[in-house]
Amino acid sequence: MRYPSVLLVVTAYILGASAAPGVTSARSFAEAPCDAWSDECREVITANACFAAYVPSKNKTQILECVDVDDPVVAERKICACYGCSEKTVQDYATADLGCH
Ligand SMILES: *[C@@H]1O[C@H](CO)[C@@H](O)[C@H](O)[C@H]1NC(C)=O
Repeated sequence: MRYPSVLLVVTAYILGASAAPGVTSARSFAEAPCDAWSDECREVITANACFAAYVPSKNKTQILECVDVDDPVVAERKICACYGCSEKTVQDYATADLGCH
């Protein structure tokens, strides 16, 4: 499942680029946080296939283990910092169920 991850990174890059100084008009829809090239977000981006499997069931344990198998606190922090790198369903889960904002 490499291809969807690559697509997401490219999408995130385009969103990031459109938010660059001088291009302000596209900023308003890019509210969800995502720094696609940061260490903080790498696991969130690579976890997308895992999220797709577990977010529909909203099993928090499994969802957090998608990002960090050992430390749910770190996993939650990374999701909250980077959920903009993920699909809409994951973004909704992050804001509604994890309480990220
Ligand atoms: C959530 O996933 C964990 C780990 O796989 C499992 O032990 C637990 O029973 C699941 N909880 C629910 C509510 O399905």
